[in-house]
Amino acid sequence: MGIRKRLVGSYLLVILTAVIILVAILITAVNYYYYHNIERILVQQAELSASFYEQYFKDADLEQQAPHLLQGFSHHFAGQVQIISSAGRLLEDSSGLQPGQSMLGYLDVRKAAAGKAGLWRGLDPAAEEEVMAVSYPLLTGSKVVGAVRFVTSLQETKETVRQIAAILIGTGLIVVLIVAAVGVLLSRTITQSITGLKHAAEQIADGDYGARAEKQYDDELGALADTLNVMAGKIQQHDRLKNDFISSVSHELRSPLTSIKGWVVTLKTSRLNGKVRLEEGLDIIESEADRLTGLVDELLDFSKLEDGRMVLSRSPLHLADFLGRIGQQLRPRAERQGILLEVKAAERLPVIWGDENRLKQVMINLLDNALKFTERGGTITILARPDEAEARVVVAIKDTGAGIPKDELPNLTQKFYKGNHKRGGSGLGLSISEQIVRLHQGQLKIHSELGKGTEVLIYLPSIEARPE
Ligand SMILES: Nc1ncnc2c1ncn2[C@@H]1O[C@H](COP(=O)(O)OP(=O)(O)OP(=O)(O)O)[C@@H](O)[C@H]1O
Ligand SMILES: [Mg+2]
Repeated sequence: MGIRKRLVGSYLLVILTAVIILVAILITAVNYYYYHNIERILVQQAELSASFYEQYFKDADLEQQAPHLLQGFSHHFAGQVQIISSAGRLLEDSSGLQPGQSMLGYLDVRKAAAGKAGLWRGLDPAAEEEVMAVSYPLLTGSKVVGAVRFVTSLQETKETVRQIAAILIGTGLIVVLIVAAVGVLLSRTITQSITGLKHAAEQIADGDYGARAEKQYDDELGALADTLNVMAGKIQQHDRLKNDFISSVSHELRSPLTSIKGWVVTLKTSRLNGKVRLEEGLDIIESEADRLTGLVDELLDFSKLEDGRMVLSRSPLHLADFLGRIGQQLRPRAERQGILLEVKAAERLPVIWGDENRLKQVMINLLDNALKFTERGGTITILARPDEAEARVVVAIKDTGAGIPKDELPNLTQKFYKGNHKRGGSGLGLSISEQIVRLHQGQLKIHSELGKGTEVLIYLPSIEARPE
């Protein structure tokens, strides 16, 4: 069942119940009011008549005085008046009913004969309509000598009550109809937003990540639309990153493979025509294979970091030695590129608690970037100094290279983010480095000025700060 039907259905059910209860209460009240009123009038008349009899006629013979009494009693009463003997026999009747018949069949008469006021409501056999009757004993001293009976037809009252009930029921129905119409309109505003959301969600599910849900109201559904849109935006961004990543990785894989393939072909043909450049070719094939392995390792590391499978194997690490070794390892490449590579470690550096291989990976990533973006004649400095106030060490890798535009700075550590340049790379280096530093409870910060150079700062806690 649609949500619209459910909403309207529940509106209707609630209002229908309320209207039915209300109408039922009103009809009962009207009913009670009318019949009670008639009863009150009858009883009043009967009481008045009985006390009148007691005052002025108690010594007279009832049977003889009956016609006079009847005249007096029916003077102010529109209905039927009867005088009944103590034996329950009809003596006089204002509607012309033949006297003589026994009235003991009526409950009110029997009660009056027993000395109490009696009330009866039922079908009158003569007129064949519903009537209400009140009988009152006529007393002489404490002896019941007869009864006076007031009877009135309920036909008119019944009709009035029926009309009022019809009006009430009709009004109730109109109210229900109006509420139903309003409910349909109101539910449309809700279902419209839901339908809009559903439509947008379906489009997104179908791969149209550019689809957006329209926010109609500032309520929960509006918030849901916002969430959906944020989600779609993220999916879109990830989708774009994934595509960029695939194309850059394929490109990265392709260039070493092309070069390996090229050299294999060269070696084959040069062997045929006798010019052997074996040494040079194998060197290049080896370095290209290393590049491929490096790239694949980077991808594996990345996936490990992503799902938290990377575990550090930490030991005490002396930074001065460590940085010296890295400097030595990269100096040949720096010399080849005509770049000066300096390592300046302060005398007394705190020992840190780190995973040597992972930190080496970080340093090589950062130095690779520095070497990649620095021109011939530039300088790269590795600087290490204690930051005693914080019980940590700062390692800075500073180059005099291209620098990074300000608007790119916040994106650098995002995975697969590459600046707008033609130099190779998968855009994972900084992202992986930052995560490794963070696993060491450290911090990585990048300062850069376009055209002047870049400085990457790594803060690592010293071994004293190690949580045990
Ligand atoms: N020292 C630097 N000088 C100028 N730009 C830099 C420097 N280091 C990083 N960048 C910019 O930051 C981007 C991201 O660097 P990152 O190391 O994450 O990726 P990459 O070097 O492009 O690829 P990879 O390191 O995976 O081979 C680079 O593409 C470059 O635009
Ligand atoms: Mg890099």
